[in-house]
Amino acid sequence: MGRPGGSSERDDRHMITEERLDLLDRAHAPPGEPELRKRIEALSPWFHNLNLGGVWTAPDHFLGDYPGDKFRRFESALPADLTGKSVLDLGCNAGFYSMAMKERGAARVLAVDADERYLEQARLAAAVLGHKDIEFRRMSVYDVAAIGERFDVVIFMGVLYHLRHPLLALDLIHAHVADDLLVFQSLQRGSGEPAIIEQDYPFEEVEPFDEPGYPKLHFIEREYAHDWTNWWIPNRAAAEAMLRASGFEIEARADEDVYVCRRTTVPYAEWEEPAVYPRRGPAA
Ligand SMILES: C[S@@+](CC[C@H](N)C(=O)[O-])C[C@H]1O[C@@H](n2cnc3c(N)ncnc32)[C@H](O)[C@@H]1O
Repeated sequence: MGRPGGSSERDDRHMITEERLDLLDRAHAPPGEPELRKRIEALSPWFHNLNLGGVWTAPDHFLGDYPGDKFRRFESALPADLTGKSVLDLGCNAGFYSMAMKERGAARVLAVDADERYLEQARLAAAVLGHKDIEFRRMSVYDVAAIGERFDVVIFMGVLYHLRHPLLALDLIHAHVADDLLVFQSLQRGSGEPAIIEQDYPFEEVEPFDEPGYPKLHFIEREYAHDWTNWWIPNRAAAEAMLRASGFEIEARADEDVYVCRRTTVPYAEWEEPAVYPRRGPAA
């Protein structure tokens, strides 16, 4: 606060500025604890169990301190310093990874999710934890072309198996928003041991398809884990093959189902362009 009774014009201006700043700070101040508990409750259930100034958003989470515990297992595989870098968090949920990237110095973080309730959670969490400059936007991963910008780091964690068109989503990320790193995670089921796959097999040779480690996507027609938004769950071989097939070279398997990848060329793109929207160039 400014000093009372400042004598020079310069001092008075200074005092007013400080008062204004103080008022602004109070206007944006996070809610006190009782109000915060009410807001957290009103936005529940939470998938991200966040510690908002001593109040946990999902104290009974079936995975405990999630995603904090998970992140601690793979965080060393990510750049420690993101100063000046841009980050796109696709399917940000309550914003855990967006805030973690901000804490590493990212200059710009755009966090998108298809679900407005999760975005409301993320806005509350960011306000309480003091992250004022993360941009939150409601958007589907299928619409990333509309962003019109590429990012140094794209986070695509825990979304693939919720999509009816998973390879299309990876193609769109490659075509429109990824510039360098992709941090990817997917639930996996089936074999955790990728089989050695030949470049090609004769038509009559059917046995490779029965190998547990052949790349497989398990189609969920109804629900899995009481969740109808699960559609395709890859085994480990399929998750890794889909990344390569959509132009992401795996640099590190950072946790059992987390990959740090670098954008590269899409295999066979010289023969057939991947199905990206909006269409580029004239229709064939
Ligand atoms: C399992 S949570 C993963 C959250 C977070 N990325 C993580 O790894 O902890 C899946 C998130 O993806 C979002 N989501 C599902 N389909 C989406 C889509 N088509 N576009 C954008 N977000 C989507 C959901 O709303 C949800 O927040």
